[in-house]
Amino acid sequence: MKTYTIAIDGPAGAGKSTIARRLARELGYCYVDTGAIYRTVAYFFSLIGISPKDQDGVAKYIDELTVEMEYDEEGKQHMIMNTLDVTDDIRTPEISQGASLVSAHKVVRDMLLDMQRDVARKHNVIMDGRDIGTVVLPNATVKIFLTASAEVRAQRRCKELEAKGLPEKYEKVLKDIQQRDYQDSHRAIAPLKQARDAVLLDTSDLDIDGVVAAMMKIVREKIPE
Ligand code: DC
Repeated sequence: MKTYTIAIDGPAGAGKSTIARRLARELGYCYVDTGAIYRTVAYFFSLIGISPKDQDGVAKYIDELTVEMEYDEEGKQHMIMNTLDVTDDIRTPEISQGASLVSAHKVVRDMLLDMQRDVARKHNVIMDGRDIGTVVLPNATVKIFLTASAEVRAQRRCKELEAKGLPEKYEKVLKDIQQRDYQDSHRAIAPLKQARDAVLLDTSDLDIDGVVAAMMKIVREKIPE
């Protein structure tokens, strides 16, 4: 069966997951949040006390880790780390940083590549991350690079954190975002960058409905209804 693949890349806080989830629902596609996979790896190393920067430590213990994705009846992606559901444990600022650092190691990226490609072989998918259009699915049917200014992304993140009852200072959130942008786009392997054939969409001045409408238009040019 021919499957359609939609690759959405972009920096932290550009709204990728919110938008991708909405699009997946409207199109009836499977949504794969690849950031959650790297977060699960970071969570594992934080539990066993290995720094995400420690290349040798990561290489030594990576075989002790199994990562699986499961989907519940509502289509929500659950992350399973060594049989444990860690979906709700991987959304802290520390794990965001850890994921950005641990994802720079080749052993980590190699381990996760097939897992991501496998889903796309079997299902119509919308996959979001940093290297989907460039490395994971270079032949994706549609590629979109979603971005927004660091200031707008930090404001959005602050609102999200406040809504969760975990308010953070704007300056700290902005600094974290800028640091992750730098790390994610300067690593040697599969750095964050726009694929040559990706459509660039700057969401700084758009609300969620506006972004979904703009993306749907891009999708419909490549994938018939
Ligand atoms: O999308 P996110 O913020 O949940 O991702 C967390 C980190 O994981 C991100 O800072 C870099 C890494 N990541 C990656 O290297 N490649 C991906 N495809 C997705 C995420």
